[in-house]
Amino acid sequence: MAFGHSMNELIVLLDFGSQYTQVIARRVREAHVYSTILPFNTPADEIAKLQPKGLILSGGPSSVYAEKAPLPDPGIFALNIPVLGICYGVQLLAHFLGGKVEPGQKREYGKGTLTVADPECPLFRDLPGALQVWNSHGDKLTKMPEGFRTVATTSNSEYAAIEDRSRHLYGIQFHPEVVHTPLGRELLANFIHGICACRSDWTMQRYLGQATEELRAQIGKDQVILGLSGGVDSSVAAALLHQAVGDQLTCIFVNNGLLRSGEAEAVQEVFGRHFKMRLHYEDSTELFIKRLDRVTDPERKRKIIGRTFIEVFTACAEQFGNARFLAQGTLYPDVIESVPIAGNPASMIKSHHNVGGLPKRLKFKLVEPLRRLFKDEVRQLGVELGLPKEMVHRQPFPGPGLAVRCLGAVTAEKLRVLRAADAIVVHEMKAADWYYKTWQTFAVLLPVRSVGVMGDERTYDFTIAIRAVESQDGMTADWVRLPYDLLEHISSRITNEVRGINRCVLDITSKPPGTIEWE
Ligand code: XMP
Repeated sequence: MAFGHSMNELIVLLDFGSQYTQVIARRVREAHVYSTILPFNTPADEIAKLQPKGLILSGGPSSVYAEKAPLPDPGIFALNIPVLGICYGVQLLAHFLGGKVEPGQKREYGKGTLTVADPECPLFRDLPGALQVWNSHGDKLTKMPEGFRTVATTSNSEYAAIEDRSRHLYGIQFHPEVVHTPLGRELLANFIHGICACRSDWTMQRYLGQATEELRAQIGKDQVILGLSGGVDSSVAAALLHQAVGDQLTCIFVNNGLLRSGEAEAVQEVFGRHFKMRLHYEDSTELFIKRLDRVTDPERKRKIIGRTFIEVFTACAEQFGNARFLAQGTLYPDVIESVPIAGNPASMIKSHHNVGGLPKRLKFKLVEPLRRLFKDEVRQLGVELGLPKEMVHRQPFPGPGLAVRCLGAVTAEKLRVLRAADAIVVHEMKAADWYYKTWQTFAVLLPVRSVGVMGDERTYDFTIAIRAVESQDGMTADWVRLPYDLLEHISSRITNEVRGINRCVLDITSKPPGTIEWE
């Protein structure tokens, strides 16, 4: 079911291919107003049907005068709702409403100072007369659209912010959504609350109430199954569904033998004993290890693990043949529709859903209670639902689990060693208050043996690499500069306590050129 937003006021964001489109949508939601991203060419009457309180036009990589420039339905300017054009968005205002855009003499890129010419402009309400802003554009406005006036300037542009207050149309050349525009949130809040007159009706507490009702209406008296991995998304989806439909939900947890120390137990403790959910626990450790026997190629390992998981999950699901629904923790970024935009290779139609590959004969209907939410909202919802911090703020963990951190062939013994070393890394990072400050921190077992000495004995043992990275989204990452004392402590504990390891090294590679995982 498409969860309706009829209960919330809405800001529609048209996507012209900016790398920041999702950031804008999140900023709107941080102002407690629901936002949705639509393709740039969405017809105006479809937008009107959603009854948005305001429209934001994103930036984008194109030039408005280019042959294949993404252009909106001109009808959007006649909807009689407030519009804010950001960067490429302000150029669209000019292009459609009688102004002019030309290639700039000089690109305006990076930090700049904005001087507010009209402090009465509602966009700049309660903001200082000079603001640090972040620019990223080559084209510039050379003639104002009809009926507009300039309300702020930079040294490079006399039209850095423009308005037609009577028609509620606003345009800014800079990017208020990025952190390098420190008062950007306030400016966006001025648009959303001041100009569009939105209430602050988007909170996770309220969403919890709405989603519970909607799920009850959708599911009725039917049964639901959900694949629980112990990750943030499936955990929050399980807790939400359990609140909505109680024992009509059965969670299926497959232990693939590739989990970290204590993980399988924690899932059983939290969902089984604490929430008292119906939890089907399937221990398939031996099957996975058998299938991985002597496989060294990383891609083959991943494929085997993926296929085996689907096989096991399908067999479990068939035991619940009377269930009508399959629940998934799909998030909003996975379902945003976009159309390819010339000049932006990243903008492609996304493949939906993360449990692709389930056989068609499983005739479940999908229920996706998180499909309207961004990750940080899912975490807030998890807190509302009473999930423990370890689950809500859990670091990303790859589907193939420890298999991609155990380089080369996987064996039960190697997994034992890796699990023990990883538990020390996690424990010490938490104790030193570093764990939740990093995107991911973990141990990797290298297939490298080296000579060491313990007491009077010569050793010839394996090596553990410590990987700690900071990242916003996993696409790029940098290694974390952990204190030497902490590293020393971790290394000393691993080499002393984990039999089979006599050496610890630190991975100081960023992504790119490295990846976060080693396989
Ligand atoms: P890489 O290693 O490509 O990882 O830099 C980027 C992020 O994705 C996670 N990752 C995976 N997650 N299934 C997943 O669900 C996978 O097969 C997988 N491989 C990598 C990785 O942990 C990091 O957060």
